[in-house]
Amino acid sequence: MTPEQKQALVDAARAVIDNAYAPYSNFDVGAAILDEQGRIHAGVNVENAVYPVGVCAERSAISVAVSAGAKELIGLALVTRTPEALCPCGMCRQALAEFNPNLPLLITTENGPWEEHNLAEILPNQFNRSHLPNK
Ligand code: THU
Repeated sequence: MTPEQKQALVDAARAVIDNAYAPYSNFDVGAAILDEQGRIHAGVNVENAVYPVGVCAERSAISVAVSAGAKELIGLALVTRTPEALCPCGMCRQALAEFNPNLPLLITTENGPWEEHNLAEILPNQFNRSHLPNK
């Protein structure tokens, strides 16, 4: 990602966090994905009265990206209203790995600088389709 793409990705995640639907946890999350076509897709966490039905911002953004025809994820920005930037949860790490096992991650807060990580660093020894028969 270019510096301009990184900034645009973080801006997109910050722009969408106000749309988070988190009345149960009050923990708002915004995510944005850059796809292989140079497009940005954003998502938020969407909770539910039946708690397990809720979905994280990262997986919301994956659904938006794939629904728009994205084939590969080039980068992810994640924004939380916390003192420190946070990495994606375990379930989202696996969901992201499906589309890029070495996905660059930009994690940040509402106003702070971003930290760069890589999905392979925070999800080592990944399970993927090569482990399944006939895939
Ligand atoms: N959440 C995310 O959206 N992404 C994460 O990586 C961690 C957690 C959401 C799920 C739930 O709506 C709220 O944050 C508290 O767990």
